[in-house]
Parts: sequence; structure tokens; C-alpha cells
Amino acid sequence: MNHKTIEEKLEFVKKDKLFLSVSGILFLLVTAFGFYDYYTPEWRSYQSEFRDLVDEKFGPERAASIPAGLQQTYVPELNVADRCITCHQGAEWKGLENAPQPFRTHPTEILEKHPISKYGCTTCHGGQGYATEMQAAHGFVEHWEKPLLGKELGEFYVMSDKKALMQMNCNSCHRYDKQTKGADDINRAKQLVMEKGCRACHVINGRGGTVGPDLTFEGEKSPEQFNYERIKGFKSEFSWQVAHLKNPKELVPESVMPNFNFSSADAQALAMLVMSWKKANVPIDYIPGHNFRDIPTQEEKEKEERMLKGPGAFFVKKNCFVCHSVSTLGIEAAAQIGPDLALAVEDVQSRFGRTLDDFLARPTGTMEVVLSTMITLTEEERKEAIEKLRHAYELKQKELK
Ligand code: HEC
Ligand code: HEC
Ligand code: HEC
Ligand code: HEC
Ligand code: HEC
Repeated sequence: MNHKTIEEKLEFVKKDKLFLSVSGILFLLVTAFGFYDYYTPEWRSYQSEFRDLVDEKFGPERAASIPAGLQQTYVPELNVADRCITCHQGAEWKGLENAPQPFRTHPTEILEKHPISKYGCTTCHGGQGYATEMQAAHGFVEHWEKPLLGKELGEFYVMSDKKALMQMNCNSCHRYDKQTKGADDINRAKQLVMEKGCRACHVINGRGGTVGPDLTFEGEKSPEQFNYERIKGFKSEFSWQVAHLKNPKELVPESVMPNFNFSSADAQALAMLVMSWKKANVPIDYIPGHNFRDIPTQEEKEKEERMLKGPGAFFVKKNCFVCHSVSTLGIEAAAQIGPDLALAVEDVQSRFGRTLDDFLARPTGTMEVVLSTMITLTEEERKEAIEKLRHAYELKQKELK
């Protein structure tokens, strides 16, 4: 039998109490730590790491001068409030060129023309300026909301230059530049637009044909406005644009837009360019050279004037020359979208089994769209076209003899 005295029993209860309170305190500590960890934002640890880094490299005085807490760049002109510098604290420091991210000195050349105080960060990089956690700030959101146009996204889309996507944002201000240093993909795409003659069918910056939609503000379309049924893989506006440029008919079977056999890199560059064509909601001071116009080059103008004086003037006046050369009448198309019409008399017969007169009266394919939307030919004009094309063909026959 256990004969414990009252004292013994009391002693036992005391021990028990001690045990209870010790474990209670431990429990509290563990919970408190958990809460602390949960509620201490990510950026605090980056800031303390940054202070250690500066302390080690430049001494405690510099380290003590680093501002703590949420940091923000506010640019009212651009409606930008970016907190990126909360973590990217070294962006404007000298001497941290080799520091790990997010502390590294920003490449300096680009900031000379675009100081952070005037541009913020998201103006160029994209991302969610207001967010203070990395995942959210670099925001990789479906359907292309405003993700960071950085390496991760570049890898995702298998871009040949992983960092190129940001150039879309450069071009929102630099759209009227012929070339912009540091935006190679956009530059390449602008050159392709000229070479391939996209303007033959599309109005771009107020000039061009109306066979296809006006592309001046193509970048304003929302992702929901595209049909993703035929897109394999990730469905985003960018994927749609790339796939469409590579093979328009695959996505829009009735399309008359040609397949230009673009490489992936060229299709991606062009997709970036058309998506950069947004309404620039920036004050005029942010537009380089205050230039809002896309003017034909002197060379283009001279060539047009020369052709207008020659025997092929009709084809310039009626805009056929944006797609067709008529070689024997001195008409040289900027982009060879349609065939050389010097051979049309014969070619229409062999390709469509119809006479030229018949074809122009009841055209099919691209010409059906062209002659019902972009160019109207009166009865007289159609006769004139046929007459001129017969003459061009005769000249061609002589040439061939
Ligand atoms: C909570 C901290 C944090 C915030 C806020 C933050 N970043 Fe970062 N950022 C990082 C870290 C850490 C890295 C390096 C690790 C990595 O790349 O994933 C990084 C890397 C980067 C890179 C290089 C990687 C790439 O994909 O090209 C860029 C560019 C960048 N950040 C831009 C931004 C911009 C713009 C913002 C504001 C919208 C921002 N960051 C906000 C922490 C942050
Ligand atoms: C005028 C446009 C512009 C602005 C504004 C700008 N950047 Fe950049 N940033 C660039 C360019 C261009 C690069 C170089 C990209 C490359 O290496 O190809 C770059 C590089 C970076 C990198 C390094 C990326 C890497 O992969 O190594 C980070 C991080 C970064 N910027 C963050 C920021 C932050 C944070 C801000 C705001 C404080 C900011 N940038 C403001 C254009 C800009
Ligand atoms: C918000 C508008 C804006 C954005 C975005 C922007 N720039 Fe600029 N950029 C300008 C303005 C305005 C100037 C002229 C500044 C000056 O002359 O002092 C300029 C100047 C330049 C220059 C100097 C040559 C020149 O034309 O004067 C280069 C190169 C350049 N930007 C490249 C870029 C690149 C690359 C990007 C994207 C990473 C970019 N810019 C993003 C507005 C912008
Ligand atoms: C022969 C005429 C023609 C030419 C040349 C042409 N397109 Fe198109 N394009 C069209 C037609 C028609 C459509 C509408 C049907 C479709 O989506 O394919 C279209 C659609 C587009 C769209 C999608 C618009 C939207 O939001 O639905 C883009 C972007 C585009 N073209 C870009 C280009 C580019 C860039 C070039 C030059 C490399 C080009 N086009 C050359 C006729 C043309
Ligand atoms: C926006 C571009 C565009 C414009 C503008 C245009 N065409 Fe065409 N045209 C084409 C294309 C593309 C074809 C080839 C059609 C096909 O293969 O279905 C074509 C075919 C033709 C053909 C048949 C040629 C052959 O060899 O088979 C004739 C004839 C023709 N066009 C006349 C004209 C005339 C005349 C004009 C001006 C009134 C004109 N086109 C304006 C794009 C255009």
C-alpha cells in the first residue's frame, strides 16, 4: 500500500505544476517563433543580409546608413509605385557589381538615360510594383497579366535571348524609333515589318492597307479576345501571336495572311513588337525626341514619285503596288506579297483556268478580300487594269524573245 503523507502528495502536485508551466512556456515560445517567422516578411531577411554584406564590404558606418523598412519609388507621371527596391537595395550602389541578387548594382548605362527616380522599375521590367514578396512581385500570372519580363519567363517561352521580353516595354516609348540600342529583337522585328510588307494589308501607325485588321494598337487587345482552341501547350496571348505569325491559317483557317515561314526567333520578335503597340499613357517628355510620327523614309517617297511618273502609274494610284510588282512597267513592290503582274495574263489562265477579265470581275482568295475591302475598281478602272496588264504581258513576251 502506498502511504503517502499529505506533504508527499503536495510535493508531487508541485512537481507536476512545474512540469506543466515549463512545457507551457516552451509551447508558447515555439508558437511565437512560428508566428514571428510567418509574419516577418521575406524582405526583412533580405534587408538584414544586405546590411551584413555592406558591413563586410564597406564597414559599419555605411551599413548603419541603409534605410530600413518598406522602400518605394513613386513616379506620379507614370502612375508607378514600385517597391522593388525594398529587396533590390543595391540597385544604385557602386561597388556591388558582383554581389548576389537581389543586391547587385544595376547595369548603369541604361539608367543614365532613364534614372530610377523618373522611371521606377516596372516601366521596363514589368512585374507587380506594389507587391513585397518575391513570387508576387515577379508575378508569373496566367494569361499574361503583368509578369516580370525576365529570365524565368524567357526560359519558359524558350526565347533565344532569355532577357529579350523586356524590350516590349522599351518599345512602348521607343515605338517610333527606327532602331533602339539595347532592343535587338524589336529592331529585328521592325526591319521584318518593312521587308515583308505587313503594311500592304495592315494599317500600322495610321498608314497601310485594310485587308487585315488595324494593328496600331494591337497590344491593347485583352488575352480573352483571342481564340485558344487550336493552341497547343500554354495558352497565352504571346503563344497565340507566335503561333499565328508562324502559320496564320492554322489558327484562322479562312485567313489570307501569308505564311512567311518565319523562324521561331523571328516570330517571337514580331509577337513582341505587335504586343508592344499600345496606347502610350505617358507624358510627352517620356517619348524620345517627342516624335509621335512614323514617316515614310525619303527613299520610299522618292521611289513612289518615280513610279508615279512612269507607264505603271495606274498601279501606284490604285495601290496595287504595295503587293505586286509589274516588272515591265517599272513597278517594283516594296514587298512581294502577290505575284509579278507582268505575267498575269498567262498566269491567271494556267492557275485558275479563267481569263484575266473574268478573274478581276469575280476574284477569289486574297484578291477577293482586297477588292471588296481595300481597293474598289470601277468598271472603267477594271478595263484600264486589264488593258495595262495586257500591255505589260506583251512587253514581257518581247523581253523573253
Ligand atoms: C521580396 C524581395 C524581392 C522583391 C520585392 C523583388 N525582387 Fe526581384 N529578385 C529578388 C531575388 C531574391 C532575386 C534573385 C533570385 C531569382 O532570380 O529568383 C531577384 C531577381 C530579380 C531579377 C533578375 C532575374 C530575372 O528573372 O531576370 C529581376 C530582373 C528582378 N528581380 C526585378 C524585380 C522587379 C522589377 C521587382 C519589382 C516589381 C522586384 N524584382 C521585386 C527579390 C525580390
Ligand atoms: C529603362 C529601363 C530600366 C529601368 C527603369 C530599370 N531597369 Fe533593370 N534592367 C534594365 C536592363 C536593360 C537590364 C539589363 C538586362 C540584360 O542584362 O540584358 C536590367 C537589368 C536588371 C537586373 C539584372 C537582371 C539579371 O538578369 O541579371 C535587375 C535585378 C534589375 N534590372 C532590376 C531593376 C530594378 C529593381 C529597377 C528599379 C529600381 C530597375 N531594374 C529599373 C532596364 C531597366
Ligand atoms: C517610359 C518611356 C521609356 C521607356 C520604357 C524606355 N525608354 Fe529609352 N528613352 C526614353 C527617353 C524619353 C529617352 C531620351 C532621354 C534623353 O534624351 O535624355 C530615352 C533614351 C534611350 C536611349 C538613348 C538613345 C536615344 O534615343 O536618346 C537608349 C539607347 C534607350 N533609351 C534604350 C531603351 C531601352 C533598351 C529600354 C528598355 C529596356 C528603354 N529605353 C525604355 C524613354 C523610355
Ligand atoms: C496579304 C495580307 C496580309 C499581310 C501581307 C499580312 N497580314 Fe496580318 N493579317 C491579315 C488578315 C486578313 C488578318 C485577319 C485574319 C487572321 O487573323 O489571320 C491578319 C491578322 C494579323 C494579326 C492578328 C490580329 C488580331 O488581333 O486578330 C496580326 C498580329 C498580324 N496579322 C500581323 C502581321 C504582320 C506582323 C505581318 C507582316 C510580317 C502581316 N500581318 C502581314 C492579312 C495580312
Ligand atoms: C494586299 C495585297 C494585294 C493588293 C493591294 C493587290 N493584290 Fe492582287 N494579289 C495579291 C495576292 C496575294 C495574289 C495571289 C492570290 C492567290 O494566289 O490566291 C494576288 C493575285 C492577283 C492577280 C492574279 C495574278 C496571278 O498571276 O495569278 C491579279 C491579276 C491581281 N492580283 C491584280 C491586282 C490588281 C490589279 C491590284 C490593284 C487594283 C491588286 N491585285 C492589288 C495581293 C494583292
